[in-house]
Amino acid sequence: MDENKIRELIEKGRASLRVGYREDPYPDYQTDQELKKPQPPLVKEPMREEAISLPMDFEGIEIEKDFLTIVNRRSSHRVYTQEVVSLKQLSYLLWCMQGVKEIRGKSYATLRTVPCGGARHPFEVYMAIRNVEGLQDGLYHYLPMGHKIEFLGSVEDLQGFIGVSLMEQIWAAKANIVFYFSIVFYRAEWRYGIYAHRGIMTDAGHITENLYLACTALGLGGCAIGAVDGKYCDEVFGLDGENESIVYSMPVGTVSDNDKDKEQDFYAFVKEQGL
Ligand SMILES: Cc1cc2nc3c(=O)[nH]c(=O)nc-3n(C[C@H](O)[C@H](O)[C@H](O)COP(=O)(O)O)c2cc1C
Repeated sequence: MDENKIRELIEKGRASLRVGYREDPYPDYQTDQELKKPQPPLVKEPMREEAISLPMDFEGIEIEKDFLTIVNRRSSHRVYTQEVVSLKQLSYLLWCMQGVKEIRGKSYATLRTVPCGGARHPFEVYMAIRNVEGLQDGLYHYLPMGHKIEFLGSVEDLQGFIGVSLMEQIWAAKANIVFYFSIVFYRAEWRYGIYAHRGIMTDAGHITENLYLACTALGLGGCAIGAVDGKYCDEVFGLDGENESIVYSMPVGTVSDNDKDKEQDFYAFVKEQGL
């Protein structure tokens, strides 16, 4: 690519991230909230008739309680031992990353276990699940209002789907749960309009960080994934891709300290290339 084109694209990327202009570049602009347009729903409607309630009693599962220990132990895991994950563990992970604790006002916003700009919480959580106690393998959607999940259907080759969906990062196909995060754009745009998009990606990070910490507390392992084939995921989960699209992912599975060397192999190039 031509140098000038590269510069132009880099500048475009930077411009979408800069904040704190003293002069408002669009003084006439008003968001839909300012225009008093109706607020979009706080969460997506269920996609199926039936849902599975998740346990909120976390008795009986081992949870590391010391916060500094959890923070210090957190790291990305890409090698999974493929033991079973319990429904309580899955419930704990979903609660820690997107659980709804309270409603602000009559129905103005959800207050969740993660912070979010304007409490818009524009994300939905989808899952490819294999080897979770009591659940049929397949695709699921989280219903945060009732802390439930709904089964969307099975996939003939679930591990194949996972590999393709994550741009051939096939190690992820051994995870018990691959979380896929979509953005329902208008939920944030209603309030922030043309300025919504930088904040959405900032907020995506809060979800995966809580998920990393929750995994660590449970002795599970995961790895945030930016290299997602969003278009393919949208098709498989039945999203329109325009108003809602999958942008981010995180496989989570059972892990073992014995696999430290295998984890290191992912970064063998650092040594090989003398970096
Ligand atoms: C936004 C984001 C995207 C990432 N995408 C990938 C990815 O596509 N593939 C991958 O193997 N790791 C991915 N990672 C994991 C990082 O490589 C990892 O966090 C980093 O190497 C630091 O290691 P640590 O998490 O163990 O501290 C991603 C992490 C983040 C936060």
